[in-house]
Amino acid sequence: MSTAHGHAATIMRRSDELAAFTTVAGEITRPYGTGALLDARDQLAAWMTEAGMSTRVDNVGNLFGRYEADSQATDPGMFLIGGHFDSVVDAGRYDGTLGILTGIAVVRHLHETGRRLPFAIEVAAFADEEGNRFHTSFLGSSPVAGLWDPAWLALEDDAGTPLEDAIRFMGGDPEAIGLDTIDPESVLGFIEVHIEQGPVLQDQNLPVAAVSRITGSLRATVEFTGMAGHAGTVPMALRRDALAGAAELVLAVERIGASERDLVATVGTLECSPGASNVIPGRVYMTLDLRHPEPGVREQAYAGVHAQAEEIAGRRALDLDWSDSPSFAETVCDAHVTETLREAIAGEGIDPLSLFSGAGHDAITMANICPVTMLFVRCRDGISHNPAESIDEADVEAVLRVLERFLLALPVPR
Ligand code: HGY
Ligand code: MN
Ligand code: MN
Repeated sequence: MSTAHGHAATIMRRSDELAAFTTVAGEITRPYGTGALLDARDQLAAWMTEAGMSTRVDNVGNLFGRYEADSQATDPGMFLIGGHFDSVVDAGRYDGTLGILTGIAVVRHLHETGRRLPFAIEVAAFADEEGNRFHTSFLGSSPVAGLWDPAWLALEDDAGTPLEDAIRFMGGDPEAIGLDTIDPESVLGFIEVHIEQGPVLQDQNLPVAAVSRITGSLRATVEFTGMAGHAGTVPMALRRDALAGAAELVLAVERIGASERDLVATVGTLECSPGASNVIPGRVYMTLDLRHPEPGVREQAYAGVHAQAEEIAGRRALDLDWSDSPSFAETVCDAHVTETLREAIAGEGIDPLSLFSGAGHDAITMANICPVTMLFVRCRDGISHNPAESIDEADVEAVLRVLERFLLALPVPR
């Protein structure tokens, strides 16, 4: 089954158009609860409508486009195709949005060729996956998958704005979020197309691969408080320098991260205050992100970093404020649905490789309500979370062919 000529080119062009929705000129920075995110959502809704879908928005701000089943279908249910349209700071243009744009393109092709499937398709555009602003994970898909925690309403961004306010800014009712869970009985499955964010497909000279497993992660925010003071007058031995303590912890995180195969640990932000060349740093705020597919290894390494932070604080007379952030468990993609995806890949003449994902994805939360799988797409030099993110139009064309073949092979007999 071929895809309509030009849809891959449209996806490349639309990726560029979405990149223009940003809170920082010259970058792609599109966090939750911003005007840029709302504008991107409006644009996606227009493209969904043009592709023959009806649209709706839920309380956390996710957008759904629905393409109804064949009217002859008796007990249709729906299959979800998803992606996220928020971004990290100074992001690339394909992380997240590719899953939405490929979903829209496949539906548009069905619509143009006058075809409906025995089940409905919903394209889910999740409003927050990266979670940079409120230190969350999968904020958008969590309520959809029945994993909403009302305590999150009190989470604050670094400026002290509560999540509750950001939800209202997105047009939602914070109190009603828990009601937005999709009935698991109605969902046949979930697939996300995503750039690989690693170098394996380029190395193997393959355009796409199925994903078999997704890693788990533990995260924290860490604050060291010492004493700000004059850089010229306070002798070295009498200082309580929060940044010197943080520097020790950064190196401990690197050491622990390197101590075990498949373990990775990152300090991704570090803010030092008051922040002047002639003032001893009185306070440092930093984040920890630690990942490994095995929960035991992950928890032991996390406890090791926490112990290091306490030891450093004690030795340097610093106060330590350690706070666990929402984390995510490792997830195995559904064997049946993933095998159907591998068959669709092979059906297009592509060697059906399966990959492990070291990045987190909404498939983790969605696995709570339905079988999930993912399709990874080659990206240049494995670069992601970086404006240099790059993919080839020919690979997007392969994605569209595989995705359509996959949908036509559904539902998977169980
Ligand atoms: O952090 C992650 O793995 C993903 O990009 N949200
Ligand atoms: Mn990302
Ligand atoms: Mn992503």
